[in-house]
Amino acid sequence: MKTTLFGRVRLGYVIVESSRLAEWKHFAADGLGLHIDEVSADTLALRVDDRTRRLVVQRGPAEDVVALGWELDDDAALHLALARVRDSGVSAQLHRGDEAAARGVSEYWSFTGPKRTSVELFTTPVMTERPLRMKASGFLTGVGGLGHVAISTREPESMKGFWERIFDARVSDYIEDRLSGVDLDLTFLRLNERHHSVAIVSTRGIRLNPLRTSIHHMNLQVASLDDVVDGYRRCRELGYPIANAIGQHPNDRELSFYVETPSGFEMEIGWNPIVVTEEAERHWRQATYRGISLWGHYPENLTLGVSARRFGRGLLSLTRGEFTVGAKP
Ligand SMILES: [Fe+2]
Repeated sequence: MKTTLFGRVRLGYVIVESSRLAEWKHFAADGLGLHIDEVSADTLALRVDDRTRRLVVQRGPAEDVVALGWELDDDAALHLALARVRDSGVSAQLHRGDEAAARGVSEYWSFTGPKRTSVELFTTPVMTERPLRMKASGFLTGVGGLGHVAISTREPESMKGFWERIFDARVSDYIEDRLSGVDLDLTFLRLNERHHSVAIVSTRGIRLNPLRTSIHHMNLQVASLDDVVDGYRRCRELGYPIANAIGQHPNDRELSFYVETPSGFEMEIGWNPIVVTEEAERHWRQATYRGISLWGHYPENLTLGVSARRFGRGLLSLTRGEFTVGAKP
């Protein structure tokens, strides 16, 4: 019996709670170029492949990502993950029926993860043969799953430990940078051949978290360079705030841009990140890079107001604890 979950788990879906469904619809379809199914007045189901939904926007007050759905290969992998959740002193609940349908899965288990984001586990997505109607030419998912999420945290050791303990995450590499006078550490964790499914962002020294939202950004991988360029141009022309113009990261070599979603976190649309195949894994070296970008990624919309708000939130975060999921003592 296999005792590792590495390679047997991938990001499956993301649930957003927002009161701005009309904005999300326009943004996702006309800006990002995704397929949209408006399934009810309170739910948008966004597709990028043969799953009925990958990103779900549900009406609600959080204006944030509220759940991350992780797909396990089979029941053996699911039960191993659930045993580890239990060993962390956390209880998971099984959901079927409407709640599962809302996520495009047959059933799922949920528990409260780091920063109180719901972590959800499933094995069986609902597929569809209905053709995609979208502006992008295509998105890459497959064994690497749905892109990645970057999570800012004041508890980076605990956060890293969580993904290592539950899913056997491996560190791909690290990046150090200095933005607006603050030293940042980034750790990139892979759960399968995707260079990273989770990135952890923290400040060095005094641990601040200037973000209101639970994630800094989520990433979707598009099929072609033209998809990045066209997506960037569409978002710009439609007036969506471009957080970072097109550029390239030094570690996964992905070419991407970042745009602010109607809920405030950012969406990274990227192309051609390196894949850590089994062969590449044999020679893998955990490098530490200086600087988040090799070139580009220039901030286009970072106004003084945004900087001041983030600085204020960063200071405020010092007064609040961050919810962590620890190992059982
Ligand atoms: Fe990213």
